[in-house]
Amino acid sequence: MTDIDAHSDPLHQLTPLQASDEPYDEQTLADLREDAAEVIARYPQKRSALLPLLHLIQSVDGFVTGRGVRFCAEQLDLSEAEVSGVATFYTQYKRHPNGDYTVGVCTNTLCAVMGGDLIWETVSQHLGVEHDETTPDGKITLERIECNAACDFAPVVMANWEFFDNQTPESTVRLVDDLRAGRDVRPTRGPGRVCTFKQVSRVLAGFPDGLADEGVGAGAASLEGLRLAKEAGVDTSSDASAAEASQGDTERSVAADDAATPATPPVTGSTDTPANAPDADPQPQSHTPAKEDEQS
Ligand code: FES
Repeated sequence: MTDIDAHSDPLHQLTPLQASDEPYDEQTLADLREDAAEVIARYPQKRSALLPLLHLIQSVDGFVTGRGVRFCAEQLDLSEAEVSGVATFYTQYKRHPNGDYTVGVCTNTLCAVMGGDLIWETVSQHLGVEHDETTPDGKITLERIECNAACDFAPVVMANWEFFDNQTPESTVRLVDDLRAGRDVRPTRGPGRVCTFKQVSRVLAGFPDGLADEGVGAGAASLEGLRLAKEAGVDTSSDASAAEASQGDTERSVAADDAATPATPPVTGSTDTPANAPDADPQPQSHTPAKEDEQS
């Protein structure tokens, strides 16, 4: 495969359909086809495999290339326009060469007021790049990101979607400097290292690297409510929670029945459209579907 010179062109001039039209070499294409077949076999409809296949393309090309769009279209019997429509909708699909590490600074409300805005300004200035731009050495793509459901550790920074909690401008500058220099960095939670963008993209395509359950998942701040509940003698067992939820459902159901008017027709049967029917000859499912990653 010919390497894409990710940084000889001004940023943002490459789009999926303009970039890298050169065909894949034989070996790369054979590997892609083999991986794609494995992914497609997990779904009753081929087209459902589009999201993981786009990640697969990024694991090879580093972004969604024109040839990657074509490959997905061919594999899934879609048009290139349909593939591009999806690839340009989600922010995790990159439309120009991505750095080895996507560093995301959460500037959503809570992180912003806790210091995220200052982190953003400091790191952006330090790296000399703005949102969705990549450093000239191809190492870091900087992004403003929305809430990552880690508000209890605000302000939060992510490197290739690994958490760095309770950050400061200084700690984040240190993080990006270490990543650029190839030094080991250790996320606050999860695995003990940060994988590259291409490696992570392969995981998102549905090929686990075995790191998903490494390290601490929920930190002390996330568990504080549970600790307080236990301290107060509340039954926090899953049986108790399920019973409580079930009770709530019953009450809501009775209330809804009471409120229904006789003119309301009962809903019967499936609301599926023919478009939701499985492909005529679905492949046997041999794998657990990949966890979808989209934040949108
Ligand atoms: S606002 Fe930053 S993680 Fe929620």
